[in-house]
Amino acid sequence: MSALQPVPFLQLSDEYEALEAEWFAAIRESGHSGRFILGPHVQAFEHDAAAVLGTKHAIGVANGTDALVLSLRALGIGPGDEVITTPYTFFATVEAILQVGATPVFVDIQPGSFVIDAAQIPDRITSRTRAILPVHLFGCPADMGAIMGIAHDHDLRVIEDAAQAFGAKVADKSVGSIGDAGCFSFYPTKVLGCYGDGGMVTMDNEALAGRIRHLRNHCATEPFIHDGAGYNSRLDEIQAALLSIKLRNVDEAIAGSRRVADTYDELLSAVDVVRPARPRYGEHVFNLYTIRTAWRDAVRKALTDNGIASSVCYPKPLHLQEVCRSLGYAAGDLPVAEQLATEALSLPIFPGMTEAQIERVCRAIRQVL
Ligand SMILES: Cc1ncc(COP(=O)(O)O)c(C=O)c1O
Repeated sequence: MSALQPVPFLQLSDEYEALEAEWFAAIRESGHSGRFILGPHVQAFEHDAAAVLGTKHAIGVANGTDALVLSLRALGIGPGDEVITTPYTFFATVEAILQVGATPVFVDIQPGSFVIDAAQIPDRITSRTRAILPVHLFGCPADMGAIMGIAHDHDLRVIEDAAQAFGAKVADKSVGSIGDAGCFSFYPTKVLGCYGDGGMVTMDNEALAGRIRHLRNHCATEPFIHDGAGYNSRLDEIQAALLSIKLRNVDEAIAGSRRVADTYDELLSAVDVVRPARPRYGEHVFNLYTIRTAWRDAVRKALTDNGIASSVCYPKPLHLQEVCRSLGYAAGDLPVAEQLATEALSLPIFPGMTEAQIERVCRAIRQVL
């Protein structure tokens, strides 16, 4: 690659070209069969995803946000209930809690890994706390051993936001298979992404699976008969067909991103940036490679000047955003999240990223630091 070619944040087109023919064949088959909603492709994908993740059930839904909303509702969480979560995540995590009428209670994050600091959770538990909603952020698993212990001691439900972390592990368990429910997003940029919107909830509990299936399909008990107000939230056949194809190669994709992360770690080891921590209790899948530097804006400008994309995930912690104003948090309440929001910078990462591209990114960073 010439020095002048841009380095994208993410490259989806190579993968698309490799699987286009197989996907189009599946789409044609759906077209000819006339089965577009909750048909054989969704069933096959749900079966295969559950097997890969090690859960009894996997239920396709319309997107990752709905996966969270349906899980909260199916667990009976609503007005008057508190849900402990992180302020440092994509807004959908907190939006889902607000949508069901519950109250998010924020706990600060760990500076190395960006995930919720489990040691601080017990201090925030009240008589109204019903659940803990950890986020496996950027592909880094939260400390599920500690979180499950706290949940057990206080009789709390655990909903894992695994939107960014398909395939990440805690000990030998996949994220999404540890708590009461695991929520996945198949937004195109995710570890396992489709070419549109999609999501999934995983669980072992049969009754919970039944409630989520019921909620995703308008609370229908039989055609045109309803016993509640649910959602139209179904994964569609065309995306499910694609996800089944991509699922077969997801380990390879994860290995590709890990290779990029390893090279970044090596090339940035002598540079004055904080590299993302790898948890001792599990395996990171590097959906994002997010460094920390006090010179974030200067580094970002150098990257942009060199034609290299980057992203600030996330610029403002949620407890300080307008939408959470009524919760009463103030600047200084969650110092680690607030500090990291000024320092975090996500670098380009995708499975087919070349060594030359990685080197260009690191060279541009070294120009500043
Ligand atoms: C941590 C996290 N939770 C939830 C979601 C919501 O997923 P979706 O965009 O599929 O609704 C996302 C997606 O960006 C996410 O990153």
